Amino acid sequence: MAFPINRPRRLRRNETIRRMVRETHLSPDDFIQPYFVCPGRDVRKPVSAMPGVAQMSVDHVVREARETHAAGVPAIILFGIPAHKDPQGSSAWNDQGEVQRAIRGIKEQVPGLAVITDVCMCEYTDHGHCGVIAGNDVDNDATLELLVREALSHVRAGADMVAPSDMMDGRVGAIRTALDEEGFNHIPIMAYSAKFASAFYGPFREAAESAPQFGDRRSYQMDPPNGDEAMREIALDLEEGADIVMVKPALPYLDLIYRAKHEFNVPVAAYNVSGEYSMIRAAGINGWLDEERATLEVLTGIKRAGADMILTYFATTVAKHLR
Ligand code: PBG
Repeated sequence: MAFPINRPRRLRRNETIRRMVRETHLSPDDFIQPYFVCPGRDVRKPVSAMPGVAQMSVDHVVREARETHAAGVPAIILFGIPAHKDPQGSSAWNDQGEVQRAIRGIKEQVPGLAVITDVCMCEYTDHGHCGVIAGNDVDNDATLELLVREALSHVRAGADMVAPSDMMDGRVGAIRTALDEEGFNHIPIMAYSAKFASAFYGPFREAAESAPQFGDRRSYQMDPPNGDEAMREIALDLEEGADIVMVKPALPYLDLIYRAKHEFNVPVAAYNVSGEYSMIRAAGINGWLDEERATLEVLTGIKRAGADMILTYFATTVAKHLR
Protein backbone atom coordinates (compact mmCIF):
# COMPACT_ATOMS: atom_id res chain seq x y z
CA MET A 1 0.00 0.00 0.00
CA ALA A 2 1.51 3.24 -1.07
CA PHE A 3 1.07 6.93 -0.42
CA PRO A 4 -1.37 8.56 0.25
CA ILE A 5 -3.04 5.60 2.01
CA ASN A 6 0.13 4.86 3.89
CA ARG A 7 1.76 7.69 5.82
CA PRO A 8 4.51 6.45 8.18
CA ARG A 9 4.68 9.92 9.71
CA ARG A 10 1.35 9.22 11.51
CA LEU A 11 3.28 7.13 14.03
CA ARG A 12 5.91 9.82 14.59
CA ARG A 13 3.61 12.72 15.36
CA ASN A 14 4.36 13.15 19.03
CA GLU A 15 6.44 11.61 21.77
CA THR A 16 3.55 9.59 23.21
CA ILE A 17 2.91 7.84 19.92
CA ARG A 18 6.63 7.41 19.30
CA ARG A 19 6.90 5.72 22.69
CA MET A 20 4.11 3.30 21.72
CA VAL A 21 5.94 2.02 18.64
CA ARG A 22 9.50 2.20 19.95
CA GLU A 23 11.22 -1.12 19.32
CA THR A 24 14.42 -0.92 21.35
CA HIS A 25 14.74 0.21 24.96
CA LEU A 26 17.97 0.69 26.85
CA SER A 27 18.04 -0.43 30.45
CA PRO A 28 20.76 -0.40 33.13
CA ASP A 29 20.55 -4.21 32.86
CA ASP A 30 22.19 -3.97 29.44
CA PHE A 31 25.50 -2.63 30.69
CA ILE A 32 28.83 -3.80 32.04
CA GLN A 33 31.13 -1.12 33.49
CA PRO A 34 34.91 -1.53 33.03
CA TYR A 35 37.40 -0.45 35.74
CA PHE A 36 41.18 -0.16 35.72
CA VAL A 37 42.70 -1.21 39.04
CA CYS A 38 46.15 0.14 39.90
CA PRO A 39 48.50 -0.36 42.88
CA GLY A 40 48.49 1.85 45.95
CA ARG A 41 45.95 3.48 48.22
CA ASP A 42 43.72 6.46 47.55
CA VAL A 43 45.02 6.66 43.98
CA ARG A 44 42.91 8.11 41.20
CA LYS A 45 44.90 8.80 38.06
CA PRO A 46 42.89 10.24 35.17
CA VAL A 47 43.45 8.66 31.76
CA SER A 48 44.09 11.63 29.49
CA ALA A 49 42.85 9.91 26.34
CA MET A 50 39.58 8.90 28.06
CA PRO A 51 38.07 11.94 29.81
CA GLY A 52 36.09 10.79 32.85
CA VAL A 53 37.97 7.48 33.17
CA ALA A 54 40.73 6.92 35.74
CA GLN A 55 43.04 4.22 36.97
CA MET A 56 41.96 3.59 40.55
CA SER A 57 43.40 1.83 43.55
CA VAL A 58 41.30 -0.92 45.15
CA ASP A 59 39.66 1.40 47.72
CA HIS A 60 38.38 3.72 44.97
CA VAL A 61 37.25 0.82 42.78
CA VAL A 62 35.19 -0.57 45.65
CA ARG A 63 33.60 2.85 46.19
CA GLU A 64 32.76 3.25 42.51
CA ALA A 65 31.46 -0.30 42.37
CA ARG A 66 28.91 0.67 44.98
CA GLU A 67 27.83 3.61 42.81
CA THR A 68 27.59 1.44 39.70
CA HIS A 69 25.49 -1.09 41.59
CA ALA A 70 23.23 1.65 42.95
CA ALA A 71 22.68 2.89 39.39
CA GLY A 72 21.25 -0.54 38.55
CA VAL A 73 24.14 -1.88 36.46
CA PRO A 74 24.45 -5.62 37.11
CA ALA A 75 28.14 -6.16 36.37
CA ILE A 76 31.61 -4.71 36.10
CA ILE A 77 34.75 -5.95 34.35
CA LEU A 78 38.17 -5.46 35.92
CA PHE A 79 41.50 -4.76 34.24
CA GLY A 80 44.68 -4.78 36.31
CA ILE A 81 47.73 -2.56 36.14
CA PRO A 82 50.37 -4.44 38.13
CA ALA A 83 53.26 -2.93 40.06
CA HIS A 84 55.71 -5.26 38.29
CA LYS A 85 55.82 -6.54 34.74
CA ASP A 86 58.02 -9.36 33.42
CA PRO A 87 58.28 -11.38 30.18
CA GLN A 88 55.84 -14.05 31.49
CA GLY A 89 53.37 -11.64 33.06
CA SER A 90 53.59 -13.47 36.38
CA SER A 91 51.75 -10.74 38.34
CA ALA A 92 48.61 -11.92 36.52
CA TRP A 93 48.21 -14.90 38.87
CA ASN A 94 49.41 -13.21 42.05
CA ASP A 95 46.68 -13.90 44.61
CA GLN A 96 47.54 -10.55 46.25
CA GLY A 97 47.42 -8.71 42.91
CA GLU A 98 45.35 -5.59 42.26
CA VAL A 99 42.52 -7.41 40.48
CA GLN A 100 42.40 -10.19 43.06
CA ARG A 101 42.18 -7.70 45.95
CA ALA A 102 39.56 -5.66 44.13
CA ILE A 103 37.45 -8.78 43.58
CA ARG A 104 37.58 -9.63 47.29
CA GLY A 105 36.77 -6.04 48.28
CA ILE A 106 33.80 -5.77 45.94
CA LYS A 107 32.37 -9.19 46.76
CA GLU A 108 32.57 -8.27 50.43
CA GLN A 109 31.12 -4.74 50.17
CA VAL A 110 28.83 -4.99 47.13
CA PRO A 111 27.91 -8.69 46.90
CA GLY A 112 25.00 -8.10 44.51
CA LEU A 113 27.29 -6.82 41.76
CA ALA A 114 28.67 -9.43 39.35
CA VAL A 115 32.44 -9.21 38.99
CA ILE A 116 33.86 -10.26 35.63
CA THR A 117 37.61 -10.24 35.03
CA ASP A 118 39.49 -9.65 31.82
CA VAL A 119 41.88 -12.57 31.37
CA CYS A 120 44.86 -11.56 29.23
CA MET A 121 48.60 -11.17 29.59
CA CYS A 122 49.15 -7.79 27.89
CA GLU A 123 48.77 -5.69 31.02
CA TYR A 124 51.26 -7.92 32.86
CA THR A 125 54.04 -8.59 30.33
CA ASP A 126 56.92 -6.12 29.99
CA HIS A 127 56.74 -6.44 26.17
CA GLY A 128 52.99 -5.70 26.17
CA HIS A 129 51.92 -8.69 24.08
CA CYS A 130 49.00 -10.91 25.06
CA GLY A 131 51.15 -13.99 25.74
CA VAL A 132 54.70 -15.32 25.99
CA ILE A 133 57.09 -14.50 23.18
CA ALA A 134 58.96 -17.09 21.09
CA GLY A 135 61.07 -15.57 18.33
CA ASN A 136 59.16 -12.43 17.50
CA ASP A 137 55.64 -13.79 17.83
CA VAL A 138 53.37 -14.91 20.66
CA ASP A 139 53.63 -18.64 21.43
CA ASN A 140 50.01 -19.84 21.41
CA ASP A 141 50.22 -23.11 23.32
CA ALA A 142 52.70 -21.90 25.95
CA THR A 143 50.39 -18.96 26.66
CA LEU A 144 47.39 -21.18 27.41
CA GLU A 145 48.91 -22.40 30.65
CA LEU A 146 49.48 -18.83 31.86
CA LEU A 147 45.92 -17.78 31.01
CA VAL A 148 44.66 -20.77 32.97
CA ARG A 149 46.68 -19.71 36.01
CA GLU A 150 45.36 -16.16 35.75
CA ALA A 151 41.73 -17.27 35.37
CA LEU A 152 42.00 -19.66 38.33
CA SER A 153 43.52 -16.97 40.51
CA HIS A 154 40.64 -14.61 39.68
CA VAL A 155 38.00 -17.23 40.37
CA ARG A 156 39.63 -18.29 43.63
CA ALA A 157 39.48 -14.62 44.69
CA GLY A 158 35.73 -14.72 44.03
CA ALA A 159 35.23 -13.59 40.42
CA ASP A 160 31.75 -14.46 39.14
CA MET A 161 32.81 -14.82 35.51
CA VAL A 162 36.03 -14.75 33.46
CA ALA A 163 36.48 -13.09 30.09
CA PRO A 164 39.53 -14.20 28.08
CA SER A 165 40.52 -11.43 25.65
CA ASP A 166 43.88 -12.71 24.36
CA MET A 167 42.68 -14.40 21.11
CA MET A 168 44.90 -17.47 21.55
CA ASP A 169 43.49 -20.59 19.89
CA GLY A 170 42.08 -23.08 22.38
CA ARG A 171 42.02 -20.79 25.41
CA VAL A 172 38.33 -21.17 26.14
CA GLY A 173 38.66 -24.96 26.26
CA ALA A 174 41.80 -24.80 28.38
CA ILE A 175 40.17 -22.45 30.89
CA ARG A 176 36.91 -24.46 30.94
CA THR A 177 38.77 -27.71 31.68
CA ALA A 178 40.86 -26.12 34.44
CA LEU A 179 37.86 -24.45 36.09
CA ASP A 180 35.94 -27.72 36.05
CA GLU A 181 38.85 -29.65 37.52
CA GLU A 182 39.18 -27.15 40.35
CA GLY A 183 35.50 -27.30 41.31
CA PHE A 184 34.37 -24.19 39.44
CA ASN A 185 32.07 -25.75 36.87
CA HIS A 186 29.43 -23.14 37.77
CA ILE A 187 31.59 -20.19 36.64
CA PRO A 188 30.66 -18.92 33.16
CA ILE A 189 33.12 -17.85 30.47
CA MET A 190 32.48 -14.71 28.45
CA ALA A 191 34.75 -15.17 25.44
CA TYR A 192 36.08 -12.25 23.46
CA SER A 193 35.44 -14.44 20.41
CA ALA A 194 35.51 -12.01 17.51
CA LYS A 195 38.11 -9.51 18.65
CA PHE A 196 39.59 -7.45 15.86
CA ALA A 197 43.01 -5.81 15.57
CA SER A 198 41.53 -2.34 15.92
CA ALA A 199 42.78 1.24 16.01
CA PHE A 200 39.94 1.92 18.45
CA TYR A 201 41.88 0.30 21.33
CA GLY A 202 44.34 3.21 21.30
CA PRO A 203 43.08 5.04 24.41
CA PHE A 204 42.76 1.75 26.36
CA ARG A 205 46.45 1.10 25.95
CA GLU A 206 47.16 4.29 27.85
CA ALA A 207 44.56 3.32 30.48
CA ALA A 208 45.92 -0.21 30.92
CA GLU A 209 49.55 0.63 30.11
CA SER A 210 49.50 -2.31 27.73
CA ALA A 211 50.80 -1.05 24.36
CA PRO A 212 52.96 -3.66 22.62
CA GLN A 213 56.63 -2.65 22.80
CA PHE A 214 57.35 -4.10 19.35
CA GLY A 215 55.18 -5.08 16.39
CA ASP A 216 51.41 -5.23 16.74
CA ARG A 217 48.65 -7.72 17.56
CA ARG A 218 47.74 -8.72 14.02
CA SER A 219 49.08 -12.28 14.33
CA TYR A 220 46.42 -13.05 16.95
CA GLN A 221 43.62 -10.47 16.79
CA MET A 222 41.35 -10.68 13.75
CA ASP A 223 41.72 -8.89 10.44
CA PRO A 224 38.94 -6.24 10.29
CA PRO A 225 37.55 -7.20 6.85
CA ASN A 226 36.66 -10.78 7.90
CA GLY A 227 33.06 -11.56 8.85
CA ASP A 228 32.82 -15.28 8.03
CA GLU A 229 35.98 -15.89 10.03
CA ALA A 230 34.36 -14.10 12.98
CA MET A 231 31.48 -16.61 12.82
CA ARG A 232 34.00 -19.49 12.78
CA GLU A 233 35.75 -18.03 15.85
CA ILE A 234 32.41 -17.83 17.65
CA ALA A 235 31.51 -21.41 16.67
CA LEU A 236 34.86 -22.67 18.00
CA ASP A 237 34.50 -20.82 21.30
CA LEU A 238 31.00 -22.22 21.78
CA GLU A 239 32.32 -25.74 21.10
CA GLU A 240 35.01 -25.15 23.70
CA GLY A 241 32.43 -24.10 26.28
CA ALA A 242 31.92 -20.34 26.02
CA ASP A 243 28.68 -19.24 27.69
CA ILE A 244 28.64 -15.72 26.25
CA VAL A 245 30.39 -14.64 23.06
CA MET A 246 31.63 -11.15 22.33
CA VAL A 247 32.13 -8.98 19.28
CA LYS A 248 34.71 -6.23 19.75
CA PRO A 249 34.81 -3.32 18.92
CA ALA A 250 31.10 -2.62 18.46
CA LEU A 251 30.47 0.20 15.99
CA PRO A 252 32.49 -0.89 12.95
CA TYR A 253 31.21 -4.48 13.47
CA LEU A 254 27.44 -4.06 14.00
CA ASP A 255 26.84 -6.47 11.11
CA LEU A 256 28.72 -9.15 13.03
CA ILE A 257 26.75 -8.52 16.22
CA TYR A 258 23.63 -9.04 14.12
CA ARG A 259 25.00 -12.18 12.48
CA ALA A 260 26.25 -13.62 15.77
CA LYS A 261 22.83 -13.19 17.38
CA HIS A 262 20.97 -14.69 14.42
CA GLU A 263 23.36 -17.51 13.53
CA PHE A 264 23.97 -18.81 17.06
CA ASN A 265 21.09 -17.71 19.29
CA VAL A 266 23.31 -17.44 22.35
CA PRO A 267 23.97 -14.46 24.63
CA VAL A 268 26.02 -11.92 22.68
CA ALA A 269 28.10 -9.18 24.27
CA ALA A 270 29.45 -6.16 22.41
CA TYR A 271 32.39 -4.07 23.59
CA ASN A 272 31.90 -0.36 22.94
CA VAL A 273 35.66 0.17 23.22
CA SER A 274 37.85 3.01 24.43
CA GLY A 275 38.23 4.76 21.06
CA GLU A 276 34.47 4.68 20.54
CA TYR A 277 34.03 6.28 23.96
CA SER A 278 36.74 8.88 23.48
CA MET A 279 35.54 10.12 20.13
CA ILE A 280 32.09 10.89 21.48
CA ARG A 281 33.57 12.50 24.58
CA ALA A 282 35.99 14.59 22.54
CA ALA A 283 33.28 15.80 20.19
CA GLY A 284 31.01 16.53 23.14
CA ILE A 285 33.68 18.46 25.06
CA ASN A 286 34.37 20.51 21.93
CA GLY A 287 30.68 21.28 21.51
CA TRP A 288 30.58 19.54 18.12
CA LEU A 289 27.60 17.38 19.00
CA ASP A 290 25.11 16.73 21.78
CA GLU A 291 27.04 14.17 23.76
CA GLU A 292 24.13 12.73 25.71
CA ARG A 293 22.03 12.15 22.62
CA ALA A 294 24.96 10.74 20.67
CA THR A 295 25.75 8.32 23.49
CA LEU A 296 22.17 7.05 23.75
CA GLU A 297 21.95 6.72 19.97
CA VAL A 298 25.15 4.68 19.78
CA LEU A 299 24.21 2.36 22.65
CA THR A 300 20.70 1.89 21.26
CA GLY A 301 22.19 1.02 17.87
CA ILE A 302 24.43 -1.63 19.42
CA LYS A 303 21.45 -3.13 21.21
CA ARG A 304 19.25 -2.97 18.10
CA ALA A 305 21.97 -4.84 16.18
CA GLY A 306 21.48 -7.75 18.59
CA ALA A 307 23.73 -7.26 21.61
CA ASP A 308 22.31 -8.68 24.83
CA MET A 309 24.90 -6.82 26.87
CA ILE A 310 27.20 -3.89 26.22
CA LEU A 311 30.56 -3.30 27.85
CA THR A 312 30.87 0.47 27.93
CA TYR A 313 32.69 3.22 29.81
CA PHE A 314 29.37 5.10 29.73
CA ALA A 315 27.58 2.40 31.74
CA THR A 316 27.15 4.07 35.13
CA THR A 317 26.48 7.55 33.72
CA VAL A 318 23.85 6.34 31.29
CA ALA A 319 22.25 3.99 33.83
CA LYS A 320 21.76 6.92 36.23
CA HIS A 321 20.17 8.88 33.43
CA LEU A 322 17.82 6.00 32.53
CA ARG A 323 16.50 5.51 36.06
C1 PBG B 1 43.39 -6.84 26.43
C2 PBG B 1 42.26 -5.96 26.05
C3 PBG B 1 42.22 -4.84 25.23
C4 PBG B 1 40.94 -4.31 25.33
C5 PBG B 1 40.23 -5.14 26.18
N1 PBG B 1 41.05 -6.16 26.60
C6 PBG B 1 43.27 -4.15 24.46
C7 PBG B 1 43.99 -4.76 23.37
O1 PBG B 1 43.71 -5.86 22.90
O2 PBG B 1 44.93 -4.10 22.94
C8 PBG B 1 40.45 -3.07 24.66
C9 PBG B 1 39.36 -2.34 25.35
C10 PBG B 1 39.13 -0.96 24.90
O3 PBG B 1 39.76 -0.45 23.96
O4 PBG B 1 38.26 -0.32 25.51
N2 PBG B 1 43.91 -7.64 25.46
